[in-house]
Amino acid sequence: MERLYLETNEHRKASECFLIIGGNHLNGEVEIDCAKNSLLPIIAATILVEGEVELRKVPLYSDVLVMCDIIRHLGGKAVFNGENLIIDCSGLDKNCLPNELSASVRSSIFTLGPILGRMRSAKVAYPGGCDIGLRPIDLHLKGVRELGAKVVEKNGYIYASGEKLKSGDIILSFPSVGATENLMMLAVAIEGETRIFNPAREPEINDLQDFINACGGDVSGAGSNAIVIKGGKKLHGTSFKAMPDRIETGTYIIASVMCGGEVVLKNCNPQHNNALLSKLSKTACKITAKDDIIKIEARSRPISFGEVETAVYPGFPTDLQAPMTALASVSDGYSLVVENLFEARSKHVGELLKMGCDIKTRNGITIINGREKLYGADVFSPDLRGGASLVLAGLVAEGYTTIENIKLIDRGYYKLAEKLQRLGGDIKRLEISRRGCDS
Ligand code: UD1
Repeated sequence: MERLYLETNEHRKASECFLIIGGNHLNGEVEIDCAKNSLLPIIAATILVEGEVELRKVPLYSDVLVMCDIIRHLGGKAVFNGENLIIDCSGLDKNCLPNELSASVRSSIFTLGPILGRMRSAKVAYPGGCDIGLRPIDLHLKGVRELGAKVVEKNGYIYASGEKLKSGDIILSFPSVGATENLMMLAVAIEGETRIFNPAREPEINDLQDFINACGGDVSGAGSNAIVIKGGKKLHGTSFKAMPDRIETGTYIIASVMCGGEVVLKNCNPQHNNALLSKLSKTACKITAKDDIIKIEARSRPISFGEVETAVYPGFPTDLQAPMTALASVSDGYSLVVENLFEARSKHVGELLKMGCDIKTRNGITIINGREKLYGADVFSPDLRGGASLVLAGLVAEGYTTIENIKLIDRGYYKLAEKLQRLGGDIKRLEISRRGCDS
């Protein structure tokens, strides 16, 4: 069936694509948004707060909008006042999250801890999210049980009852980001001291700690090998701005290296991107960082960064693995990319092949022979970061690239096309209509 691509300025249309004409250098400034992966658990944490929370400068990531729907479903209020998101869970009166809401985002599982903590019982359907592997929630549930909850899994729901919740020590067998956040939030609602050993150390954990403390909680140790939560304190409203998005930052850094030019990223935290910056020092571009600014100057074809292996923070972030594969595809020489966290996070490779990339991948190990030229193609975004890698490839490919299923990219990048356009990238968001389908 023939497709028509119609230009649209509206965000979040059901069926949209990006149309990219590759080859332009990128030049100018980009303001980095607040971090999606910080905002999602923080929105879940507002369930514990009796009072108004103002989250400043919240981008309209589609995952954030779903979390707002979840808050409203539970009986809380969530409204935007300009760029600020105002949430008030004082009147929260439901403890059940149905499948329609849970299944659309991974972060729905973050509500299990706070709902259980506040209501002393919770019924939450299994979470959804990007299809990048099995993504079990066993560590979340094990920790919740260790804090005294009775948990039953039945008919697609997790039923948790918390009459006997008690503080204590939890040792995570793996430093899962989501499990750490969920258990931190549950522990905030339990009288006494809870310690989480071997927690995730991602910066978003520090941000959640800072948010809880701004509401009157007592959490310490984020970023170290034990987080201590002195629970039972009533949380009050606050005004809070989440940290800059380190994955958005990384994506624009990689885009700048690939396209060439001179780009300045503002409102970022360079330290959060140390693993990426040290890899890129080999690629023949100049990157300087000062305070909250990163400047990338790229004047020639990138040289291969060599090898990169994803790991928990402060290791190389799995969320930048696909964009790094796109970079390797146009870099001079062979590169090796190893994915250690998610077993099915290489679906973008099949799409990159359509653009002329020379890539082989098996069991999370990807070998890339960088090409001087890529060619535009019709591709499909397989997941959020895989989709971003296709945008990057499209920006350097000769000719036209269309990327479908960009609703997955909208989960974690806000105004991606507009920001890239301002830098000189030729990228448009278009509405797809299929000729003959109109009733
Ligand atoms: C979060 C981020 C995601 C990022 C990931 C790793 C959010 C909303 N998402 O996801 O963007 O890619 O961290 O940095 O913050 N695991 C288990 N059992 C569990 C939980 C996790 O086996 O109960 C495994 C997962 O399958 C995966 C690994 O642990 O292999 C890492 O997962 P985790 O750190 O929990 O990532 P998420 O919180 O899902």
